[in-house]
Amino acid sequence: MPTVVAQMLRHLDVEDGMRVLDVGTGTGWTAGLLAHRLGAESVTTVELDRDLSDDARCRLVANRLPVTTVVGDGTLGHPAGAPYDRVHVTAAVQRVPGALIEQTVPGGVIVVPYGTPFCNGALLKLTVSEDGTSASGPFVEDVAFMWVRDQRPRSGQFDIEDVRRGPSGLDPAAVADHTDAAFAVGLRLPDLLRQEVWAGYDRFGTGRFEVWDGVSYAHCRLADWDGEHAVSQSGPRSLWGEVTAAHAWWQRQGAPGLGRFGVTVTVAGEHRVWLDSPDCVIG
Ligand SMILES: C[S@@+](CC[C@H](N)C(=O)[O-])C[C@H]1O[C@@H](n2cnc3c(N)ncnc32)[C@H](O)[C@@H]1O
Repeated sequence: MPTVVAQMLRHLDVEDGMRVLDVGTGTGWTAGLLAHRLGAESVTTVELDRDLSDDARCRLVANRLPVTTVVGDGTLGHPAGAPYDRVHVTAAVQRVPGALIEQTVPGGVIVVPYGTPFCNGALLKLTVSEDGTSASGPFVEDVAFMWVRDQRPRSGQFDIEDVRRGPSGLDPAAVADHTDAAFAVGLRLPDLLRQEVWAGYDRFGTGRFEVWDGVSYAHCRLADWDGEHAVSQSGPRSLWGEVTAAHAWWQRQGAPGLGRFGVTVTVAGEHRVWLDSPDCVIG
């Protein structure tokens, strides 16, 4: 955790005189580090959970770091304290909230963990455009955070009917055990939940890689994945086929690491995921 926080603060790249919004107060640690660097008057931190916020405030005051603590939904930012030069989010999002862009100065930086239901996730470093209507930037680190409260992927029960069985053209371990591949497949198929993965190859061959979109479902056996009935699929989409195609696409691009991907987000909520350059939109 200290390493991840150090990485995030390095990418935030604060300078004297900057004002920072910290989303997800938690213990108050990151707000305290920012206050130590910039002065408590320059830091506002927002936390959804009142008890956590109260405890963090007491801790910060006791350490003579009396930042502004706010109880509320940090995805709405804190307009009363805006504009901010930097926004530091320590919970993962699937959608970057437009309010955070609106409340950041042009040229300002937003550092936010970003993931998909398939793969949580990577650290996104966005720079707000000169006209303030969008923000764009690359993924810069491999991180996994707890989700922002209302952006947790839904999990659920699924009824498997009219199952279509067949072999797999892809070893599920090529995705399950490979973060760059899983991240890229998640970016290509952002509505797909990776429901469960048993990392081990148990001797009964019951381990499965499961994917689900709320309607269609598929799994591929981890052991004997190229066997005759390794894949089971049901519903209108052939989800294992889509995972296989997304993985093949990733390989054709030269198996890019997460640092070659980025996102452009508009204040209105449009998300464009790109590879190598904001002009090369992939989804
Ligand atoms: C990984 S912890 C943050 C760690 C924190 N920065 C620290 O230094 O301890 C994530 C925090 O985000 C909070 N959180 C989740 N969703 C939120 C939201 N929509 N608005 C504000 N805080 C949120 C959680 O309650 C949790 O305390």
